[in-house]
Amino acid sequence: MNVFIAGGTSGIGYSLAQYYLSKGYCVGICGRDLTKTPENSSKNLKIFQADVCDINSIFSAVNDFLQNKDLDIFINCAGSYAEDVAGNISYEEAEEMLQTNILGTVNCFEVARKAMKGQNKGNIAVIASVSGIMDYENSSLYTKTKRSVIQIADAYRRALKPFGISVTTIAPGYVDTLKLRQLNDNDLSKKPFLTDLETATVTISDAIEKRKKLIIFPAKMKWMMKSLSILPSSLLNIIMFRKAKWMKND
Ligand SMILES: NC(=O)c1ccc[n+]([C@@H]2O[C@H](COP(=O)([O-])OP(=O)(O)OC[C@H]3O[C@@H](n4cnc5c(N)ncnc54)[C@H](OP(=O)(O)O)[C@@H]3O)[C@@H](O)[C@H]2O)c1
Repeated sequence: MNVFIAGGTSGIGYSLAQYYLSKGYCVGICGRDLTKTPENSSKNLKIFQADVCDINSIFSAVNDFLQNKDLDIFINCAGSYAEDVAGNISYEEAEEMLQTNILGTVNCFEVARKAMKGQNKGNIAVIASVSGIMDYENSSLYTKTKRSVIQIADAYRRALKPFGISVTTIAPGYVDTLKLRQLNDNDLSKKPFLTDLETATVTISDAIEKRKKLIIFPAKMKWMMKSLSILPSSLLNIIMFRKAKWMKND
């Protein structure tokens, strides 16, 4: 089995890479900065420098990895996140978020689709976020990009079904990664229902294997978001505003 993971050089993506290597699969991973990739001597692992915002670089990385073999699974874990509303993050952060999370998602679907064309099989998975499942007008720019990821995946799922290619959307709550810790001064005490990396990896790989359309985890976070979704927007605004203040110690 051949698995390519865009954004596989750290965090959730690298953990998934280790999981597939442990199963004896051939795994290709890519990211922009390869210096942060942990030492890994597996002969089944190939590491590429590629940027999801540049479709040609992702295309070349996948082609180099496959060497004309089939692509069984493509997972896009590349994501840019900064936890704040539009206007409170820099233009550069906003631009990177939009490019990586939206254009990058489309680029990954296009590259995976071309690689899987004619195989009549394959699974493409993309990491969105649980925050993206809720229609909340005052959500952060990050959440709005992740809501777009869910919708882009829906569009490709429909388009690729006749070709035997399934699309799995992953919507995780907080996952304990180095990146999340860096963004929160190593303090995750105010992140509700935090999931450890191992549990997240098993949950994601299981959803991909079962070709689920959408997986939202952990269950408590899923039901909290679904419950909030049915509230009138005035009440939702008050709750979300208080939650944001509490999380920032305001
Ligand atoms: N951790 C959480 O709590 C959480 C919750 C919900 C959703 N998510 C989503 O899960 C995904 C992974 O998050 P994580 O916590 O594991 O973060 P992470 O460790 O920073 O992983 C992100 C990966 O994507 C790569 N990447 C970023 N921009 C890229 C680009 N333009 N081209 C190619 N690769 C790129 C990064 O490497 P380079 O920067 O070197 O390129 C890295 O390998 C993200 O999409 C995130 O939004 C995370």
